[in-house]
Amino acid sequence: MLRFDDRVAIITGAGHGLGRSHALMLAERGAKVVVNDLGGALDGTGASTGPAAEVADLITKNGGQAVANADDISTPEGARAVVQAAVDAYGKVDIVVNNAGILRDKSFGKMTVEEFDAVLAVHVRGSYLVSQAAYPLMKAAGYGRVVNTSSPAGLFGNFGQANYSTAKMGLVGLTKTIGIEGARNGIKANAIAPVAWTRMTEALLPAEFEAKFTPERVSALVAYLVHESCETSGEVFTVGAGRVARVFVAEGPGWKTDDVTPEAIEANWEAVMAEQPYVLTAGDSMKAML
Ligand SMILES: NC(=O)c1ccc[n+]([C@@H]2O[C@H](COP(=O)([O-])OP(=O)(O)OC[C@H]3O[C@@H](n4cnc5c(N)ncnc54)[C@H](O)[C@@H]3O)[C@@H](O)[C@H]2O)c1
Repeated sequence: MLRFDDRVAIITGAGHGLGRSHALMLAERGAKVVVNDLGGALDGTGASTGPAAEVADLITKNGGQAVANADDISTPEGARAVVQAAVDAYGKVDIVVNNAGILRDKSFGKMTVEEFDAVLAVHVRGSYLVSQAAYPLMKAAGYGRVVNTSSPAGLFGNFGQANYSTAKMGLVGLTKTIGIEGARNGIKANAIAPVAWTRMTEALLPAEFEAKFTPERVSALVAYLVHESCETSGEVFTVGAGRVARVFVAEGPGWKTDDVTPEAIEANWEAVMAEQPYVLTAGDSMKAML
C-alpha cells in the first residue's frame, strides 16, 4: 500500500469534487493535509470558510490529520498564506496538488477580458503562486511532489472555453518547466487532465456517467504521482473512469529543404503533417532542423 506517513500535502480547491477526494485519499493513507478552498461559486464569485472546514473536519473524524484554509490561491498573499498554514500546522510541505479551478464559459467572439483574466488567474497564476511559495521549502528538503490540474479541454480544445483551455494548456508548460528545474532538488511535477462527475461537470455529462466517473478514480493517479516511489516527472496524463493514459506533445518527422518557399511548403504539406516517426524533446526537434 502506498502510504504518506510524515508527508505534508497542500490540496487547493479541496472543499468540493476532485480536491476533496484527493484530500480524503491522501489523509486516509497517512498524510497531514492542508485543505484549502475559497468556498465560492463555480464562476469564482463569493467565498465561504464552510467547504474547507467540512472536509478538514471529516478527515479528523475519520482519524486523519488535516487543517482547513480558506485563502484565495490566485493572489500572492493567499498562496503564501496556504503554505504558511502548512508550516504552522506541520512544519513543512512535501506535496502540492494544484486543483482549484473556476469556469467562465463563453464563445470566443463574446468573451470579455475579465472572463479571460479571471480564469487564468485561478488556474495558471494560482498554480504558479502556490508551487512557488512551497518551492524553497521543497528545495531545502531535497524533496517535493507537485501535481497540476490540466484538462482534456486544454489539451485538445473545447467550444466555449477559450479562457479555460488557454489556462489548462498553460499548466502543461508550467509543469514541464518545474519538472526540469526541480530535478536537481528531488522535486517532481506532473499534470493530470481528469474527467469526473463534480459540480463542474454534472450539467454537462450524461447522468449514467456519475457512477463511472467518480472523483476517487482520479485521486488514485494523483496519489501515485505524489508518492515518493513515483520517478516520473514533467508528464501529463488523462484520467477518468479507471483509465489512465500518458498524453505527450510530439513533433512529426517533418519535411526539410534548403530552398524553403511558401509554394514548396504547399507542395509538401502531406509530409509536413505526417505523424510518424515523432520526436518528444526540444533537443531532438533542434537536431532534426540542423
Ligand atoms: N470535473 C472534471 O471533469 C474536470 C475536468 C477537467 C479538469 N478539471 C479540473 O479539476 C479541478 C477540480 O474541479 P472539480 O471538477 O472538482 O470542480 P469543483 O468546482 O467541485 O472544485 C473546484 C474547487 O476549487 C475551489 N476554488 C475556486 N477558486 C479558488 C481559489 N481562488 N482559491 C481556492 N479555491 C478555489 C472551489 O471553491 C471548488 O471547491 C479544476 O481545476 C478543474 O478545472 C475537472
